Amino acid sequence: MPPLDPTLFGDIDPPQRLLMGPGPVNAHPRVLRAMAADLLGQFDPEMTGFMNQVMALYRPVFGTQNQWTMLIDGTARAAIEASLVSLVEPGETVLVVNFGRFGLLLTEILARIGAKIETVSAPWGEVVPLDAIAEAIESFGPKVVASVHGDTSTTMAQPLEGLGALCRAAGAYLYVDACATLGGMEIAADRWGVDIVTGGLQKCLGGPSGSAPITISDRAAERIFARRHVEQGIRRADIVDGAGPRIPSNYFDLAMIMDYWSEKRLNHHTEATSMLYAARECARVALGEGLEARFARHRKAGAAMTAGARALGLVVYGDDAHRMTNVTGVYIPAGIDGEAVRTMMRENFEIEIGTAFGALQGKIWRLGAMGYNAMKHKVLLTLGALETCLKAQGFSLPLGEAVPAALAAWEVA
Ligand SMILES: Cc1ncc(COP(=O)(O)O)c(C=O)c1O
Repeated sequence: MPPLDPTLFGDIDPPQRLLMGPGPVNAHPRVLRAMAADLLGQFDPEMTGFMNQVMALYRPVFGTQNQWTMLIDGTARAAIEASLVSLVEPGETVLVVNFGRFGLLLTEILARIGAKIETVSAPWGEVVPLDAIAEAIESFGPKVVASVHGDTSTTMAQPLEGLGALCRAAGAYLYVDACATLGGMEIAADRWGVDIVTGGLQKCLGGPSGSAPITISDRAAERIFARRHVEQGIRRADIVDGAGPRIPSNYFDLAMIMDYWSEKRLNHHTEATSMLYAARECARVALGEGLEARFARHRKAGAAMTAGARALGLVVYGDDAHRMTNVTGVYIPAGIDGEAVRTMMRENFEIEIGTAFGALQGKIWRLGAMGYNAMKHKVLLTLGALETCLKAQGFSLPLGEAVPAALAAWEVA
């Protein structure tokens, strides 16, 4: 065989796309720069120092004092899976608050764990009322309640205030997937009384996917440590197994991962150094901006996108009262080829907007403005481009109104 021509595929030199969908979004340049920093050995004091800094940086991002605040190596789904496989024992009842694709993902993961799954659901485009969750807790007596915060599939944000107290009163643990809202909408793990919250970098935190922040309450950590079974080749006299059943995943075993992030530094996986640098910088960018200011920026971007879409004559999807601030669903108008509009947006304007999943596929687009992209000019550019593409595809719309409407909404939101 002839030797492979090293120039065959060329350098990685992607187009400068503006990612205005439900995530991933463009990463903050500071985050990309941090990822280019030199690598360290995993037990180098500089490296373990960075790990400790990450723990400190993510506590305010999650609104918590939890000691166990760290990273799972993998995309957001890795942290979801780690949480559920470590918290839930086969056969235990879990109540899933289900209002979209990612609620269904929780049921899918729980089914693989062998949990007894109950659901309390809302139609897509709505959220589940707290009293319906309270009733379901009372009738099913779950050991764990699991909910998504912002479900990007429907663009709805489930209110969580008060849910932790309900769970505690019923002796249940509460898990929340905040992948799509962490760093963009308030996450108050302690005030809401959530036992485990997980996130991802590629949405409001403005990083690449591949590292998932997690925070774990002391009582959840205690439950998980009761299932600790350290793998044979790394056993140590100072780390004692628990009496509970072994967690049926090695990679996602939160007991071993917590031991790795503790001062014991029990070796587990090799921490993904460049992703840790990225996660660290995402949190520094967010805290440097100030969380309140950051939430306000996302609110303004969401309000501007929504007002601009309406001014284009588009119908906005879902319940106005519970909309995520960072992603807006809009119906694809009758007679318009949704994929042709997306292609034209990409080819002429280098802008990506989102499609949809399941029952909403082909019915709505999802317009995101999150993290580094929740900026006034990026929202205005997206709306201006969308206006041109919609018109070119034959949609009859009032010209020149969307951008001023968005600008006005940005100012007042
Ligand atoms: C709410 C929510 N949860 C979980 C995920 C899964 O994240 P990942 O693709 O990073 O595993 C996503 C991704 O879009 C999401 O929006």
